[in-house]
Amino acid sequence: MEKYEIKGGCHLRGEVEISGAKNAAVAIIPAALLVDGVCRIENLPEISDTEALLHILASLGAKVKMIDPSTVEVDCRHVHWENADYDRMRKIRASYYFIGSMLGRFGKAQTTMPGGCNFGVRPIDQHVKGMTALGAPVDVRNGYIFSEAQTEDGRLHGAEIYLDKVSVGATINVIIAACMAEGKTVIENCAREPHVVDLANFLNSMGADIRGAGTDTVKINGVKSLHGGSYAIIPDQIEAATYMIAAAATQGEVLVKNVIPKHLDCISAKLREMSVTVEEYPDSVLVRAREQLTKTNVKTQPYPGFPTDAQAPISVALSQSRGVSIITESVYDGNRYKHMNELRKMGATITVNGSTAVLEGPYELTGATVQACDLRAGAAMVIAGLCAKGTTYVEDIHYIERGYQDFVGKLRALGADIAIVDFPDDVEEAELSVV
Ligand code: UD1
Repeated sequence: MEKYEIKGGCHLRGEVEISGAKNAAVAIIPAALLVDGVCRIENLPEISDTEALLHILASLGAKVKMIDPSTVEVDCRHVHWENADYDRMRKIRASYYFIGSMLGRFGKAQTTMPGGCNFGVRPIDQHVKGMTALGAPVDVRNGYIFSEAQTEDGRLHGAEIYLDKVSVGATINVIIAACMAEGKTVIENCAREPHVVDLANFLNSMGADIRGAGTDTVKINGVKSLHGGSYAIIPDQIEAATYMIAAAATQGEVLVKNVIPKHLDCISAKLREMSVTVEEYPDSVLVRAREQLTKTNVKTQPYPGFPTDAQAPISVALSQSRGVSIITESVYDGNRYKHMNELRKMGATITVNGSTAVLEGPYELTGATVQACDLRAGAAMVIAGLCAKGTTYVEDIHYIERGYQDFVGKLRALGADIAIVDFPDDVEEAELSVV
């Protein structure tokens, strides 16, 4: 089993280049199924989730050609709806975007129930509500999702849809499905995350007519077809947030490059409240922590609020801050606090009560063997390892590799003592294999 071995105590220093946004890429790749032509996608992050989605696209008949590690050309002129790579679909969350893109392209869809990080119940009822309103009821049987347009012409039809919950996934999925539907679709109570806007910009650049992405009302005039084109994905807001927080937690100084500073306003504001200096430049932010970090309170919310995906990383920075900090997780239930248990193994005495966590720092963290419970919790444990005295081992690193391009390489370039080490799975298994 591969683990990260981290020798703590360094101050991160230097520059780091942020990759393309994971959550935009994982929507844009399935959406490319709608394009009747060749589309070139640039600034693609090199992570296992995008690789898996490209394989799924290929299983549907797309020609997928890597031009370089961050540029792909996808030709979806001769695609089919059946025989998708269901094994890969089952493992990732974003595979649910194929419901929208298959329905848009073929008028019918078959996918698996989505996989991905497990931080509590993650229902898809709002996706189902949206597809049903567009004319394609959804049926779940034997772990598969089936949907087919029940209209005379076999196409989806525009509709007015109110999402009962602000959901990134449902907003994106309904946009994908509706952009080639007959007539006009209006989606109310939409998520406003930068990756929602990026997905809409991608589709518009291929001929779609989507307006209002980034606000809570998105209007889509259905078009008959989408044409090929070229599109560059935005920088990853959460990857950038992770390095900003890591710089602060380790009392470092890091220039985080290739970012859209506006997308990071909520992170910069919280770091400033914690006595960290954040300087913004046109496409980079400089984070400098010279003083003892100080307490603050954080409540996760949909964009432009503080992102739930940065909650685990900032927990670690707050564990290094003087005073009582309160975190409120309002996007997911208490299951998004699994990293708090791991932090306790390193010496932090954190109290968790439902959706609230209370930290009274600064804690002196000590190296331990800890789990990456999910993608962002895993990144948080790496930051904790960098802050701790002694050596930390982070297990289940496959979660981290789903979403961070070259995490180890980028951290090493900032001065971190981190390496991937390979251990036998456990002693018994090692002995068994000898027998
Ligand atoms: C996306 C992100 C994930 C991030 C999350 C919230 C991707 C691939 N993943 O996940 O990294 O943590 O947004 O910013 O982009 N909900 C429902 N019914 C639904 C859909 C969602 O009740 O049909 C609930 C969820 O349980 C959750 C909340 O709505 O409590 C927000 O979820 P959503 O925004 O949909 O998250 P994802 O799209 O799954």
